[in-house]
Amino acid sequence: MRDRSDMMPLVVSDIRHQTPAIVSVHLAHPDGEDLPVWEPGAHVDLQLITRQERQYSLCGDPADPTSYRIGVLREPLSRGGSHYIHSHLRTGRRVWVRPPRNLFPLETAPAYVLLAAGIGITPLLAMARRLEATGADWRLVYLTRDAGDVAFADELAAYGDRVRLHLSRTAGRLDLRAALASLPAGTAVYACGPQPFADALDDLRDALPTGAELHMERFAPAPRVFGSNQPFTVVAERSQVEVAVPAEWSMLQALRGAGIDAPGSCLRGVCGSCVLRVTAGSPEHRDSLGTTGEARMHPCVSRSIGPRLSVDI
Ligand code: FES
Repeated sequence: MRDRSDMMPLVVSDIRHQTPAIVSVHLAHPDGEDLPVWEPGAHVDLQLITRQERQYSLCGDPADPTSYRIGVLREPLSRGGSHYIHSHLRTGRRVWVRPPRNLFPLETAPAYVLLAAGIGITPLLAMARRLEATGADWRLVYLTRDAGDVAFADELAAYGDRVRLHLSRTAGRLDLRAALASLPAGTAVYACGPQPFADALDDLRDALPTGAELHMERFAPAPRVFGSNQPFTVVAERSQVEVAVPAEWSMLQALRGAGIDAPGSCLRGVCGSCVLRVTAGSPEHRDSLGTTGEARMHPCVSRSIGPRLSVDI
């Protein structure tokens, strides 16, 4: 785990249950200073007392510089972050936070449909706020099991007919194919939810009408199969070091093992924090961030196609 030199020590200014399984947490500067600005779709990395890092979408008001708000689901198989936040985090406690980054930005479109499942409501809540403020043509469909699972219900109710709740216990599964196929051409679809929801949407891209685009944020890597790992050499150009990457190590592990302070948080190819610019060679993109063909890579999971690769670090 990296040190905290690029993180801010913030304090929990409010924490409350949105549903029995979801808490919202407000984070503020201990001296009341303004926080770095952010745009809808942005997330922050939180480093907890255990030094584990977790990524959480910002779901508050981007126009409010005094606090960040995140939503955290209690996960039965928590790797630590969810359990700690639900069981131990209290108002006044300090957490370390890396400034917001946005891998899920709102792009200009004639109309928007926001598709949220479960805790995936969090980035879309900030988008809804922005779209409403700018007078955009937008709708939000929020899939949960029943009414007791609807987080941020009061805020959503204020948007009236723009928000539709789909409660699967009574309404059954939403026909996603039909929902996508019925959209007007050119609609921008922003979707976020658990892995089965994201995988289902990924498989339905062919149902989108002409010009419609699906933008998704994933909590977990997209399921894909790659060939067996091959060893390669990475040249860290600014550090002027050549590092051997064995088959059983990630490139990020190898760089750090060579004493290079390479960034990284999720270590699963979904948060974008480890991104490096590629200066020579061809990366094999194994991340879930849509970087195929780009001259940058995520070394927590991505590797080299050839025996050598050079990066700017
Ligand atoms: S550490 Fe998150 S994408 Fe690499």
